Amino acid sequence: MSDYSFSDDSVPLELLRRRAFNMRWAQQPAGVIPLTAADPDFMVCPPIQDALVRYVRDGVLSYVPPEGLPEFREAVAEWMRSTRQMDCLPEHVFATDSAASGMAVIARACLKPGDEALIPGPVDFLLHHTIEAAGARAVRVSVTRSTTAEQFIAGMEAKLTPRTRMLWLCNPHNPLGVVYSRDWLKTVAEWAISKGLKILSDEIWSDIVYTPHQHVALASISPEIARNTVTVYGFSKNFALAGLRIGCLICGDLLWKKEIVAASDAESTVYGVSVLSQVAVIAALRDGRTWLADFIRHLQSQRDYAVQRLSQWPGVKVEPPQGTYVIFPNTQALDADSERLCARLREEAKVALVPGLPRWFGEGSSGHLRICFATSRGILKEAFDRLDPVVKARAVNQR
Ligand SMILES: Cc1ncc(COP(=O)(O)O)c(C=O)c1O
Repeated sequence: MSDYSFSDDSVPLELLRRRAFNMRWAQQPAGVIPLTAADPDFMVCPPIQDALVRYVRDGVLSYVPPEGLPEFREAVAEWMRSTRQMDCLPEHVFATDSAASGMAVIARACLKPGDEALIPGPVDFLLHHTIEAAGARAVRVSVTRSTTAEQFIAGMEAKLTPRTRMLWLCNPHNPLGVVYSRDWLKTVAEWAISKGLKILSDEIWSDIVYTPHQHVALASISPEIARNTVTVYGFSKNFALAGLRIGCLICGDLLWKKEIVAASDAESTVYGVSVLSQVAVIAALRDGRTWLADFIRHLQSQRDYAVQRLSQWPGVKVEPPQGTYVIFPNTQALDADSERLCARLREEAKVALVPGLPRWFGEGSSGHLRICFATSRGILKEAFDRLDPVVKARAVNQR
């Protein structure tokens, strides 16, 4: 039984057209359906709305502690313990203004210009972007949906140099949709630690996982892995809070965390997280569980629907994501140039998608499209009804 609805009526289209940026409704020509940036089309859950209104009505919006409100850090720690059996205490938690900025802080704190960090390829652009913005080099190690830990390690061995300092992972993986198993993670992490590497584990997608898969937090695997791992977590995907720019870092080694906090410049107040964003997260983690469970149930059915529609596209290969709400079909049979294919689909079908381009996902993404399905069934169906004839005409022309 669902308490919350994710029906067509729950999508506030007029507001999205004015407020949802980053390649979404507010940035598309009228009539175009954006299945682009991974940001849900639904309103944030009522407990979050109520908490924000109450806090604003109270009328005090003073400075907050640089590492986050005590209630924020306690709520995150409790969430990590109860949902992931992670040995997390409030002092391990550091509030950052988005997961992306948490990654940038780690890059600044842990990588010097010329240093190298291994990242999977393909993967979300934020990994290479934040590493390179710190003057370091992102070194890509190829992965596919089925890459074993041993194959990934062999790939890393081949790229290891005296300048390699870190391994950055993304689990669940955007855009491949893989949820890594405990064995995979343990084998890879133990190899990295044996080479003296620190690990960043981007787990922003870790609440969006479909049965029978289960998220294993890297830092929950062993105390040694926890000491060598900084976990990036966020609230844009699970609770639709992208506009509040809020995330956090969880670091098992308190001395290392101190260096990360120093590099963030939060103590000087140059940076720091808005108090309202933290209030929203406290409400989400304490009172948003039912909403999140209903959201995931809706997403699982959207995922199945998207797979079923995509599997009817001639020559297109698609695998259901185990986690995340993006799907990444191989559309090479339609057009090897995914940017050209995307432009055509936007023009003729009036549906905007993300092309598999190196600038978004790095190597291994060419010939793919990324489709976000965190919308209502009616909107997703309308998008596929528009895409189908264009895709099928394209497939005939390709013969
Ligand atoms: C893998 C991954 N990491 C980080 C982020 C950034 O999240 P935030 O909005 O908290 O900066 C995203 C957002 O798309 C993502 O997909």
